[in-house]
Order: sequence, then C-alpha cells, then structure tokens
Amino acid sequence: MKKFTSLSLACLFVASAFAANEVYYIKANGEFGKQLSEIAKQYANDNNTKVEIFVDEDPRKYKDTRILKTGVNKKGHYSASLGKELYEKDCASCHGINAEKRMGKTALKDMSAKDIEDSMIMYRNDSSFGGSMRTVMQNKAKTISNSNLGAIIAHLKGKDAFASEINESENKPVSTQKQQGSYLR
Ligand code: HEC
Repeated sequence: MKKFTSLSLACLFVASAFAANEVYYIKANGEFGKQLSEIAKQYANDNNTKVEIFVDEDPRKYKDTRILKTGVNKKGHYSASLGKELYEKDCASCHGINAEKRMGKTALKDMSAKDIEDSMIMYRNDSSFGGSMRTVMQNKAKTISNSNLGAIIAHLKGKDAFASEINESENKPVSTQKQQGSYLR
C-alpha cells in the first residue's frame, strides 16, 4: 500500500512537470482568429499570466530559431584555434583570410559576434534574407553546426565576444527578431 502511494505520487509529479512545460499553438484564421486572440489576451490578463500571439508567423519557426540561437553557447567555451582552422577551410576563400573582404553588406571583421550569428541563423531560416548572392550563404549556413559556428566566431571576434551581448539576444519574440529582406545592422 505504501509502495503504491509513493508510486502514484511520483506519476502525478511527472505528469504535472510535463504539463508545466507544454506549449500549445493554436492556428485560427481571419476574424475568428482575431476574436480568439482577443479572448486569449483578456483571459491571460485576468489570470495574471502571459500568452504570445503570432499573426501571420509560424511559431514553429520561432521555436527552431530559438533552438538554433541557444546552440551557440554565449559564455564562449569554443576553441578559437579550431575556429581558425574551420574559418580558413570554409570561409576565408570568399571572406578573406582576415575577414576583410566585403561579400554582402559588411566585412565579417566589422560585424559583431551577434550579427554574424544572427545572419547565419537568418540564412538558415528565411529564404528571402540577404542580398542577390544569398543562395551561396544559405547552403553554407545549413551545413555548419552551431558548435563550429561558435568556434569560428571565437576565432574572428575573440572567445569572450558574446559575453557583453548575452542578455540582448535572448528570448525576443519573433516579431522583433525578424528582419525579412534586409541585412541585420
Ligand atoms: C563561396 C563563397 C563564400 C564562402 C565560402 C562563405 N561565404 Fe559568407 N558570404 C558570401 C557571399 C557572396 C555573401 C553575401 C550573400 C548575400 O548576397 O546575401 C556572404 C555573406 C555572409 C554573411 C553576411 C554578411 C553581411 O554583410 O550581412 C556572413 C555573416 C557570412 N557570409 C559568414 C560566412 C561564414 C561564417 C562562412 C564560413 C563558414 C562563410 N560566410 C563562407 C560568400 C561566401
């Protein structure tokens, strides 16, 4: 009997732990969608909680972007020497050995760590991002892992390049993150 009680308690705990992490995405169109979002906002307000509502955005993309974003560890445990090797093999032929050649809008040496990371994430996720040569970078960005990107950024910008930028880049809703059709500044 005692065994049974603790077992069901454990199950309950696991079940509620899952429920707390579940996120529900509701897709609804037009006027109905608008009304539903108003009700959801009101209900969240009344219950002193928060809802995020996406209009004409696919929340799965938001989720993917965040997974990719957290992929590069901002605390900088990346090997700059590995980064140098990777950069010279994978990037230098176009961007220059000292990141000095301007391929898009800005030479990599003049971009911040975050701008480089953001650009790579946008090339991965948004086919309209970038300039006329974007397909080159789309293919590149999709084959480079976050950990290799972290190493390349450590090589280009220093191991601590992200440290001062940590809080700025986290947890922004997609609507403020998306810069479709233009370069990041
Ligand atoms: C085959 C040539 C080539 C290689 C190799 C290459 N790039 Fe690029 N890169 C480009 C071109 C061309 C652009 C401009 C694309 C456009 O029009 O949007 C660009 C743009 C970029 C940008 C955006 C610059 C801006 O002005 O916004 C970043 C960041 C970048 N590349 C990083 C990298 C990294 C990191 C690597 C190595 C993993 C790499 N690239 C490898 C050609 C290359």
